Amino acid sequence: MIINTICILGGTGFVGRTLANRLTQKGFNLRILTRNREYHKEELILLPTVDLVEADIHRPEVLKKQFAGCDAVINLVGILNEKGRHGEGFRHAHVELAEKVVDGCIENRVKRLLHMSALHADPVKGTSYYLKTKGEAENLVHESSKRGLRVTSFRPSVIFGPDDSFFNRFAKLLKMTPMVFPLACPGSRFAPIYVGDVAEAFVKTMADPSSYGKRYNLCGPEVYTLQELVAYTAACLGIRRIIIPLGDLISRIQAAIFDFVPGKPFSTDNYLSAKIDSICHRNDLHELDITPSTIQSIVPQYLSNKYQRARYYQFRSHLSGK
Ligand SMILES: NC(=O)c1ccc[n+]([C@@H]2O[C@H](COP(=O)([O-])OP(=O)(O)OC[C@H]3O[C@@H](n4cnc5c(N)ncnc54)[C@H](OP(=O)(O)O)[C@@H]3O)[C@@H](O)[C@H]2O)c1
Repeated sequence: MIINTICILGGTGFVGRTLANRLTQKGFNLRILTRNREYHKEELILLPTVDLVEADIHRPEVLKKQFAGCDAVINLVGILNEKGRHGEGFRHAHVELAEKVVDGCIENRVKRLLHMSALHADPVKGTSYYLKTKGEAENLVHESSKRGLRVTSFRPSVIFGPDDSFFNRFAKLLKMTPMVFPLACPGSRFAPIYVGDVAEAFVKTMADPSSYGKRYNLCGPEVYTLQELVAYTAACLGIRRIIIPLGDLISRIQAAIFDFVPGKPFSTDNYLSAKIDSICHRNDLHELDITPSTIQSIVPQYLSNKYQRARYYQFRSHLSGK
């Protein structure tokens, strides 16, 4: 199969920007669909073969138009929290969109679909709406192979990199909290994977027939508890915090309260997702011949840089205010 032009949904996000960079380096032409071109243009329009298009991707006729002339589609859209509370938002963003993407591909004779899922996504056993709907969407896209689509899906643990919302979020929270830091779900385990390794998995499989129909579990090289990762974040920032591990009931209550905080920094659905350890029993990164990067080789560079820069700007504004 010859692939020249790829349409990406969710290509403006954390994973999408890294992947777009890698794909343009390989010479692919990219059509990246976004809800807000103006907001994202600075990050992406400098890439030589990227066409950033504002589009309502939930409308089938829009997808049909945008998929025309494409050889492959990548769907990276995902949400960690919904506006409502009963799973409809997750269904809309994960399952209904995946259905429209499959139909759009088939109508346009696009033969290749790469789909981003999540580790332990499962329509039945998923512990949260996030994991259930991710699992439903994953099964749905693989079902479409009966209609001639060649599908590969990716199931990563938590992803880290300079713009991640994991280490950066904890860094922000740690800096805001003096002395003690209460932590929900402290014993949940993760195998953080580097965003560059995730992007590499997409690039390597794009035109590889041996990946058709496969679902790749993607993990980093080490397993950590959430408490260890938060302590590591504090160490990278060079700050001392006493981390207070919250028990299960208090974690659940904290999540229920945060459900009502604008922007939902933590939610009942996040709490339920953390009920299952985000670790691989089989890490398929090795099958793809990718050596996973450690957090120690990447995270300190961006966390300590950002912190030092923030301190420099604070210092400078303090001086200019005098
Ligand atoms: N980051 C992780 O640790 C992690 C771990 C496992 C799996 N994943 C999965 O990997 C994918 C990418 O994650 P990410 O961290 O890059 O996410 P992200 O930074 O939030 O980016 C997701 C992109 O999807 C688009 N999007 C979000 N909600 C949408 C909606 N309701 N309708 C239409 N478009 C929407 C947005 O594009 P526009 O604003 O431009 O429209 C956004 O840039 C997701 O599917 C996520 O579930 C991520």
